[in-house]
Amino acid sequence: MPVFLFAMERETVAIIGTGDMGNSIGPKLAEKGYHVIYGSRDPAHKSVQELVAITGNNARATSQKEAAQQAEIVVLVVPWPAMQEVAQNLGNMDGKILIDVSIPIQQAEDGYLESMVETSSAQLIQGWNPGAKVVKTLLASSNVIDDPTILGGRVTSFVAADDRNAKETAARIVADLGLQPLDAGPLRHAQEIEAWARLWFVPAIQKSASKGFELAVLPNNLLVLHVAGRVVRARR
Ligand SMILES: NC(=O)c1ccc[n+]([C@@H]2O[C@H](COP(=O)([O-])OP(=O)(O)OC[C@H]3O[C@@H](n4cnc5c(N)ncnc54)[C@H](OP(=O)(O)O)[C@@H]3O)[C@@H](O)[C@H]2O)c1
Repeated sequence: MPVFLFAMERETVAIIGTGDMGNSIGPKLAEKGYHVIYGSRDPAHKSVQELVAITGNNARATSQKEAAQQAEIVVLVVPWPAMQEVAQNLGNMDGKILIDVSIPIQQAEDGYLESMVETSSAQLIQGWNPGAKVVKTLLASSNVIDDPTILGGRVTSFVAADDRNAKETAARIVADLGLQPLDAGPLRHAQEIEAWARLWFVPAIQKSASKGFELAVLPNNLLVLHVAGRVVRARR
């Protein structure tokens, strides 16, 4: 008997922002069967149209608000300083899954990074969209998403949310991107995830590495830190 393989039915995902992260995430999700709609300030721009063409799977680009309204899942990949205006103008987000990967950071006087917010970006976004199911995940740096094997193992991406279904859906997206999702508990733990992101920049600030490190939490309790190609293993 012939075996027919059908692509898994996937949701429509709006990707708000067409920068580094939008370019890394969009084509990969389309490859996995998601319907991608880019939300852009200038959807007709050549670079956005090129991204649409590369993405395939009937991807399209429209305004940020229209993209958010046409999708069940909305991924916010705009810079933190633009976030409030963007997140407050997406229209009715009730019941939609809203994924935040932003890092609200600024340079402190000592050269290291400090948070620009008292709680977390994710909690603020939840406050601006009370009916949305906000999920915090940092995914990973865009070059790791482009090639999840680049550091020799699946990089862990924390996933925090108050809504169980939203967290599971976001975890599946993280896994579809080739990363290892790790349940990080409730949305308020976005504060810890964002703190981790500040640590990520330490090697670059100390000029000991051109890039930061990534974390892989393995089932056998090994923590693996990758520092610009050098692998440091520490047993818990
Ligand atoms: N890059 C990474 O490796 C990485 C890793 C983890 C988390 N993040 C987080 O992901 C988010 C996006 O990072 P990114 O590196 O992709 O940023 P980016 O390259 O600067 O791109 C952000 C995109 O957001 C849109 N945008 C820019 N300014 C805007 C404004 N004032 N109002 C509305 N939209 C605006 C633009 O898309 P349009 O021109 O199409 O509107 C722009 O291309 C940030 O919050 C960052 O902290 C990034």
